[in-house]
Amino acid sequence: MKGLKFSLVALAMVIPSAFAQSQPPLKVGMMLPYSGTFAALGNAIDNGFQLYVKEQGGKIGGREITYVRVDDESEPSKATDNINKLIKRDNVDVVIGTVHSGVAMAMAKVAKETGTTLIIPNAGADIITGPMCAKNIFRSSFSNSQPGFAMGEVAAKKGYKNAMTITWKYAAGEESVKGFKEGFEKGGGKVTKELTLPFPGVEFQALLTEVAAAKPDVVYSFFAGGGAVKFVKDYAAAGLNKSIPLVGPGFLTDGTLEAQGESAQGMLTALHYGDNLNIKRDNEFRLAYAKQYRLQPDVYAVQGYDAAQMLAVGLKATKGDISKKDDFAKAIRATKFDSPRGSFTMSNANNPIQDFYLRQVVGKENKVIGIASKSLADPARGCTIQ
Ligand code: PHB
Repeated sequence: MKGLKFSLVALAMVIPSAFAQSQPPLKVGMMLPYSGTFAALGNAIDNGFQLYVKEQGGKIGGREITYVRVDDESEPSKATDNINKLIKRDNVDVVIGTVHSGVAMAMAKVAKETGTTLIIPNAGADIITGPMCAKNIFRSSFSNSQPGFAMGEVAAKKGYKNAMTITWKYAAGEESVKGFKEGFEKGGGKVTKELTLPFPGVEFQALLTEVAAAKPDVVYSFFAGGGAVKFVKDYAAAGLNKSIPLVGPGFLTDGTLEAQGESAQGMLTALHYGDNLNIKRDNEFRLAYAKQYRLQPDVYAVQGYDAAQMLAVGLKATKGDISKKDDFAKAIRATKFDSPRGSFTMSNANNPIQDFYLRQVVGKENKVIGIASKSLADPARGCTIQ
């Protein structure tokens, strides 16, 4: 009798609900940068997302998945039109995107107004899980201040007294620097100068000359993708890496080491992922990803994979019905996600509460050498959903 009960329960778990069976495929709108300085990031997110769906046999919550893709070009001025096209013209059921914080802020505004479910697989704009937070907006990545804060604490503990910062002048760069400053100054350090250039510029020479003249103890920098490759190479070409350590959020060296080569060796960064975690979940993920794409995964691939996991958790709880927004959100909030990065839970603002690792570049790997910040939550200042 007991056996029969168990097998009925098991059967119920594999038989899709009547709702899911009667539904057309779930339309997923992928709004990502497939061109420009963040193109590799967008592609890795897309790959990670697809890998998870493939591992579930192409269906989540009992529903087949189809994709509609738009290249957002990391261009905030086109963002509102792009997401509106996905929602109103293509009638997508859910939007996954994006990388760039400025684009994501415009997307979050539209998602909030239309009630469309939005899962952000990278962009860390603090405001999205702060004053703009909403029940239908989730993030599978981080908030910008998190890795900055973690690296700031480490830099202070290493005894650096003064720091200069260099970044692109837009939300992600500014918030990353703000997080670093908070962690560094709490530990007794002082940020003496904040240098910026417009996104996605790569004319770094004048800024590097300023660094060379000021000789700070350490430089903290936020760049990613193509911009990170160029910055780290220019920093080393100017000979600065010999005398002034360059640190950053892990984006500075994630998915970029092949191209940065010698110039990145020894660098310390903080991030919620690394290349040698050596946990079963990650080992399996890395193997599957490499097999599928003939590429090594990076943090962006993990965030894409976990965005799909998040969608799956919500859809499973609602038996494939994404319009049941309360149940969808409740299930995500109640889940401990088994991620390649290690497990994480979601905060009340729908942002991961996760460990930030301290990593060091050795060869072509970001080797985890410790924990920079344990179970770090997004401060979620101004978020009123509970
Ligand atoms: C962002 O714009 O929020 C952003 C972009 C690239 C990263 C991290 C954050 O690697």
